[in-house]
Amino acid sequence: MALVTTTEMFKKAYEGGYAIGAFNVNNMEIVQGITEAAAELKSPIILQVSAGARKYAKHNYLVKLVEAALMECDLPIALHLDHGDTFELCKSCIDGGFTSVMIDGSHHSFEDNIELTKKVVEYAHAHGAVVEGELGRLAGIEDAVNVSAEDASYTRPDEVEEFVTRTGVDSLAIAIGTSHGAYKFKPGQKPQLRFDILEEVERRLPKYPIVLHGASSVVPEFVDIINKNGGSLDNAIGIPEEMLRKAAAMAVCKINIDSDLRLAMTAGIREYMFANPGAFDPRQYLTPARANIKKLVSHKILEVLGSNDKA
Ligand code: G3H
Ligand code: 13P
Ligand code: ZN
Repeated sequence: MALVTTTEMFKKAYEGGYAIGAFNVNNMEIVQGITEAAAELKSPIILQVSAGARKYAKHNYLVKLVEAALMECDLPIALHLDHGDTFELCKSCIDGGFTSVMIDGSHHSFEDNIELTKKVVEYAHAHGAVVEGELGRLAGIEDAVNVSAEDASYTRPDEVEEFVTRTGVDSLAIAIGTSHGAYKFKPGQKPQLRFDILEEVERRLPKYPIVLHGASSVVPEFVDIINKNGGSLDNAIGIPEEMLRKAAAMAVCKINIDSDLRLAMTAGIREYMFANPGAFDPRQYLTPARANIKKLVSHKILEVLGSNDKA
C-alpha cells in the first residue's frame, strides 16, 4: 500500500469515536517497533517527523524507512511533518513525499497565523497533501522551542470557525492543558484538561478532526525501569489514560505521542546495559528497546486509541 493522507482515517475515526496515534519517528528501530505493533493489531497510523528528527536522521533516510515499513505491512500510513514552522519547511516535506504537514503558527498573531497557514494549505492541496494547523499554545519542551507555563495559552473557541474557514486547514491542534515532554504537571498538581474547551470547539466545528499534542501518559512502568537502572526522572508525570480515551471518543482524531516512545526505548537500553555492563553490540541493547516500542504502541492502540481492526 502507498502512503495515504489523513482524510479518510480522520473521517472514520470521528464517526467511530476512536483516534489515530501519531508517533514520532527518529530511527529504524522506532519505525519498526511502531509499525510491527500496528500491523499485528490492524491499526492505521501516522508516523510523524519533527524538524529535529529530520536534522538528526535526514529526510531521505526517514522517508525510505517508512517506505520499507510499507513494504513489510499492508497498512494505511500517513507520513506527517510535526511542528513545521515555515512555509519552506512544509513545502520541502511535501515535495519530498510527505502526505501531511503541520504548520505551527501558534506563536504568531491570529492574523499572521491565518496568513501562513493559508499559504501552506494552498500549496499542500495543490500537491495532494493535507495540513494541520494550531490555535493556542502548549507548554513544554521540544527540540527547538521551550514554552514556559506562563507563555502557554488555551485555545479560544471563539476563534476556531474563522481560522478554519479562512485557512481551509484540514485538522486543528488545540491547547486544553496537555504539554510536551515528561513533566506535564507540577509535583502535587492534579492532572486536569479543559474538556469544556474541547466541547465548545466540537460544537462550533461539527465533524471536524481535532488534534491533541503533548499527549504522552509518561507510562510509569518505563519511568520505574529507568529510575531503577541509574536514571533520574523524579516527578515525571503525563496525561492520565482515561482522559485520552475520553478525548478520543470526542472530536479528537489524532493523538500525538513522542515522550512515551523515548521513555520506552531508553528503559530498554538502560535495563539491558545495567544487566550486561560489558555489552557493546548495539543490536543487543536496541533489540529490547525496539520490543519496548512495540509493547508501548500495542498498549496505546488497544487501551487508549481504540484504533485496532480499523485498517
Ligand atoms: O512535539 C515535539 C515532538 O516531541 C518532537 O520533539 O523536536 O525534540 O524532535 P523534537
Ligand atoms: P509528548 O511529549 O507528550 O509525547 O507530545 C508529543 C507531541 O505532541 C509531538 O508533536
Ligand atoms: Zn506537539
